[in-house]
Amino acid sequence: MTKRTLKDLSHHVSQCVECGLAESRTQVVFGSGNPNADYFFIGEGPGAKEDLEGEPFIGRSGKLLSRLIGEELKIDRSQCYIANVVKCRPPNNRNPKSIEISTCKPYLDEQIQLVNPVVIIPLGNFASRLLLNTKEGITNLRGERYSYKQHYLVPTFHPAAALRGNPDALKNMRLDFQLAYSIVSGNLK
Ligand code: URA
Repeated sequence: MTKRTLKDLSHHVSQCVECGLAESRTQVVFGSGNPNADYFFIGEGPGAKEDLEGEPFIGRSGKLLSRLIGEELKIDRSQCYIANVVKCRPPNNRNPKSIEISTCKPYLDEQIQLVNPVVIIPLGNFASRLLLNTKEGITNLRGERYSYKQHYLVPTFHPAAALRGNPDALKNMRLDFQLAYSIVSGNLK
């Protein structure tokens, strides 16, 4: 059987009713960006704006993420791939439940496999804990390079942490983006 493409997968996921989030969503927010990206960002789940428009990270967190991509990775965000741990908005922006995360995980894994990035950058606790299979928090996890399957993995804070005024979050996000940049530009392979 031929491998399905990102577009096939997106079409399939757009009709998913595997968990309860399907009942309250406006639409599935599959992910967006360059299907051959070097950098693959993973957030937590769509917020209100993303749920309405069908695009990940288009609110305040997205603006900060786009700015950091430009300043530290020296590319436009459209050259990266951006997805979330869960593809449907949790009602009232509550945390995604374990069962929702595990139900959605095969979609994330297939996205990663199809994009085949050099480095994965999980943003915040949910994405970092999921891919590193740990209960450890992002404050302790960040600042280092790990691997996930054949990809490098550089966990960092979620941009919302920086927007909430965590004084170290923005500074550390810049450092983590610089680590990812040096991996992709070949200085750290
Ligand atoms: N926060 C996330 O984690 N993901 C989005 O898509 C938007 C905000």
